[in-house]
Amino acid sequence: MLQHDVIIVGGGLAGSRAAVEIARTDPKLDIAVVAKTHPIRSHSVAAQGGIAATLKNVDSDDNWQAHAFDTVKGSDYLADQDAVALLTQEAPNVVIDLEHMGVLFSRLEDGRIAQRAFGGHSYRRTCYAADKTGHAILHELVNNLRRYSVTIYDEWYVMRPILEDGEAKGLVMYHIEDGHIEVVRSRAVMFATGGYGRVFNTTSNDFASTGDGLAMAALAGIPLEDMEFVQFHPTGLYPVGVLISEAVRGEGAYLRNANGDRFMENYAPSKMELAPRDITSRAIATEIRQGRGVGSDGSAGGPFVHLDLRHMGRDKIMSRVPFCWEEAHRLVGVDAVNEPMPVRPTAHYSMGGIPTNPRGQVRSSADGLVEGFYAAGECACVSVHGANRLGSNSLLECVVYGKITGASVAQDVQKRKFSDVDEGKYLEEAKQQVRELLDRSGKYRIQEVRQALQDCMTEHCGVFRAEELMQQGLVRLREIEEQVQQVYLDDSGTLWNTELVEALELSHLVVVAKTILTSALNRRESRGAHFREDYPTRDDENFLNHTLAYYSPAGIDIAAMPVTLTMFEPQERKY
Ligand code: FUM
Repeated sequence: MLQHDVIIVGGGLAGSRAAVEIARTDPKLDIAVVAKTHPIRSHSVAAQGGIAATLKNVDSDDNWQAHAFDTVKGSDYLADQDAVALLTQEAPNVVIDLEHMGVLFSRLEDGRIAQRAFGGHSYRRTCYAADKTGHAILHELVNNLRRYSVTIYDEWYVMRPILEDGEAKGLVMYHIEDGHIEVVRSRAVMFATGGYGRVFNTTSNDFASTGDGLAMAALAGIPLEDMEFVQFHPTGLYPVGVLISEAVRGEGAYLRNANGDRFMENYAPSKMELAPRDITSRAIATEIRQGRGVGSDGSAGGPFVHLDLRHMGRDKIMSRVPFCWEEAHRLVGVDAVNEPMPVRPTAHYSMGGIPTNPRGQVRSSADGLVEGFYAAGECACVSVHGANRLGSNSLLECVVYGKITGASVAQDVQKRKFSDVDEGKYLEEAKQQVRELLDRSGKYRIQEVRQALQDCMTEHCGVFRAEELMQQGLVRLREIEEQVQQVYLDDSGTLWNTELVEALELSHLVVVAKTILTSALNRRESRGAHFREDYPTRDDENFLNHTLAYYSPAGIDIAAMPVTLTMFEPQERKY
């Protein structure tokens, strides 16, 4: 049986930053990172616009309290304010630390790190590397994994964590290259497995964002927190859905409807295009619904709005947001120097996830913890984003809570021993699961069932939600769940069987989808990204609580967990 002191699942920003922190704290610890892609291909690499921190390089009045307030207001008062205080206080330190690692941030004329405006932030505090910030940070962190001799298992798919008697003892993983299965024993397990954008049919997320970590945790009896809060990024490139960074608006681009009007004036007059994402996405969706969207021939009534960069000029576009220009040019043939880009909301980010305390320890309930189990980054819910995340707070969360969680692991693991693990039992179970999938003579192709699931979630649990629509969605999901049991694979081999991985991912997508829909049905109010047409206002009296959803194949039980309010009393949220 393989053995490491610490095993981290996921090689993106949160996982890599945690590994670096553990190695810095105790160089003797044996650390492994396991990921279904190479760490450099984690979805963090696709992050564009930047990382927020009150460096005060551009706006000297900025301070962590203002960053905390913007974050809490942006969250529609659902964020835990102790966790937000940690996030915003630590932000300048982690950015400077990244700079010392060698991250190539964009610069001001005087050489200091440049900072730009981002939605919902009251100062220019987003540090960036043009519009490839995730790429710049992840490369340095992954270099540091090598520097600290972290073992990397890339292209291994984790099938399950081993959680017994209230503690994490290791995991079971499948080698995509040759179908080999291993049980790994460890003194601590950390999940940093990213999000689940592929639950929806239009997303900015990569193909690997299938919510595996969340589903595995749920299947192991861990509740999932606040899963109803799905962020739709306002500017997905139409029709492909890839991200056109908020940095484009931060640098001055306008949103226009079919009449050429800057319609944000009617939704968030003080912030305009730099309103938080929940408000901006609903505004775009409303314009489209009410017939002021643009069609491919430029006529009204179409399915997108325009993102207009033309007044910014070629030099600014090419120096500040060159990748966004390139995406529009390559994917839809639009030269944004001369023409507006077609955009509409795209599923982008999960505010909810595996519940953790501010040390990164996974919660088993509102007041219990799982020993030796940790989570950070998008798969986790600590909760710093509440009902709606501000742009550029996600890279920040990965780095701050990757660091904090790494420090907790390094400290706690000193007191933890390797547990006995029944390797034979776990190996046999995993082999049987694989064999059952390979041998199955089902009726459905994976692709058709996955598409049905993605269409169902997009139609029944998208930007606008209502009781009947979601109930219908749940019925449809149950049908889809039965189809998942009847998918068949063309490839019955064990060498590089990506179809097998897709089948495993599909079963995880269903768990995540059911949890989102059930949590959304339960929250009979509108807050942040969760907008119910049948309950259009926020209801603090009944719903100023986190949702905890306990999954079981028989159904999902919902419980509430209090929100931590330490600094700011909930107010009406206006921009
Ligand atoms: O728009 C963006 O560049 C995305 C940033 C984020 O999600 O934080």
